[in-house]
Amino acid sequence: MSLRSRLAAANGPDGAPSALPGQNGAADGHREDNHLVAVYRSKLLEEIDLAEMSALDATERRTRLERVLGHIISREGPVLSSTERARLIRRVVDEALGLGVLEPLLADPSITEIMVNGPDSVFVERAGRVEHLPLRFASADQLMQTIERIVSTVNRRVDESNPMVDARLPTGERVNVIIPPLALTGPTLTIRRFPRAYTLPELIGLGSLDEQMLLLLAAFVRARFNVIVSGGTGSGKTTLLNALSGLIPSHERIITIEDSAELQLQQSHVIRLESRPANIEGKGQVTIRDLVRNSLRMRPDRIIVGEVRGGETLDMLQAMSTGHDGSLATVHANTAEDALMRLQTLGSMSEVHIPFEALTDQINSAVDVVVQLARQADGTRRVVEIALLVSRGRQPYRIATVSRFVPQPMGPDRVVRGHYQHLPLPREAADKLFLADEAVPPAYGVTDALDSRNTREALT
Ligand SMILES: Nc1ncnc2c1ncn2[C@@H]1O[C@H](COP(=O)(O)OP(=O)(O)OP(=O)(O)O)[C@@H](O)[C@H]1O
Ligand SMILES: [Mg+2]
Repeated sequence: MSLRSRLAAANGPDGAPSALPGQNGAADGHREDNHLVAVYRSKLLEEIDLAEMSALDATERRTRLERVLGHIISREGPVLSSTERARLIRRVVDEALGLGVLEPLLADPSITEIMVNGPDSVFVERAGRVEHLPLRFASADQLMQTIERIVSTVNRRVDESNPMVDARLPTGERVNVIIPPLALTGPTLTIRRFPRAYTLPELIGLGSLDEQMLLLLAAFVRARFNVIVSGGTGSGKTTLLNALSGLIPSHERIITIEDSAELQLQQSHVIRLESRPANIEGKGQVTIRDLVRNSLRMRPDRIIVGEVRGGETLDMLQAMSTGHDGSLATVHANTAEDALMRLQTLGSMSEVHIPFEALTDQINSAVDVVVQLARQADGTRRVVEIALLVSRGRQPYRIATVSRFVPQPMGPDRVVRGHYQHLPLPREAADKLFLADEAVPPAYGVTDALDSRNTREALT
């Protein structure tokens, strides 16, 4: 006998919801489950002393609720196996504590993203793969209550006049909410786990790059090359940016600028700036661009911009080419040439109108390296290319590949395999490393020839 049917039987006719015609068994099961959880939740709330509860910390509160509920179930519930009993207790307590079905997901460290698309559809990302979970909220109202609880912890409000919220929770998770009428599928919640800070050696362990690439990137960062980390959504840009930032010498003054502060730099001389959305009256907005401009007056040795996505791009490019070299930023693009195109587009979004060719000039002199990331079919994140920008002045962009990932055809296990290929560094880059007392890693070497084997033109 399943947990549901046992509980339903023990609850008597009132406790057992009748099956609705035309619904499948699984949906009925969920509805029954939800009903039982609601029944025990209200019994639990009758028994506890709220004043006493509020004096306890989160762990004590959970323990206390579990104990009280255990008594209630022993007293009036059915005979349950220990697993069934534990499952019921967990669900009721989770709901009583506020975040309902999300609680166990938030408690599971292997989950990196939680996606709720209306009350009946919950997806999570685990180890890079998206899974649909057999979980649901009792109703859209219950989901809205959960969402309201979450956003109220950061003093934000979500309602018809304010139907989109993007915020970072005190625990570091990034939360995005969008509700009807904008979201047609129901209240939609996306929770991104605070990204774990991987070190570069750990990233090598995960196969995201190899030892030689680490040596090269480390030399680039120490020699103050301007580095753009490029990749699609969730491809690991912030993670790599964070790891690369760790290579900056500890005596340098570093300013980080982000929309939601995710970088976790270990150096001691770090100033962290975070932009701010407008308040409910539409006032008080501070953009990434405002912060980039301000940071230039703060005597930075390095500026790190979490992601360029607007008018700040021009300020960032100007800073990179006028004394604030060694800066790092990410941009959302799927290839190295797309990254340059995107910088060009973003750079032209500023209200300072700058002619197309002047912008090309700016990018050619600002950007030294593009590190291209990709999230691959099997969920792994990988550096798929390290490219140097070798064009100058107003020339069309020319990219020299120095590392690339060469994939093998995918086998039946759907795991992406392949190897890294390393190509000689253009003389100019090698000289710049040499002047900074940095070595060219052995796998690379140096070349004077920039030909079609290792370079390509990015069409504008
Ligand atoms: N090399 C890697 N190997 C395995 N997992 C990774 C790797 N890099 C990042 N991740 C994981 O992938 C998820 C997304 O990473 P991250 O936030 O760095 O991506 P992003 O490209 O900055 O995303 P966004 O486009 O949302 O800014 C995180 O859960 C992170 O821990
Ligand atoms: Mg990011």
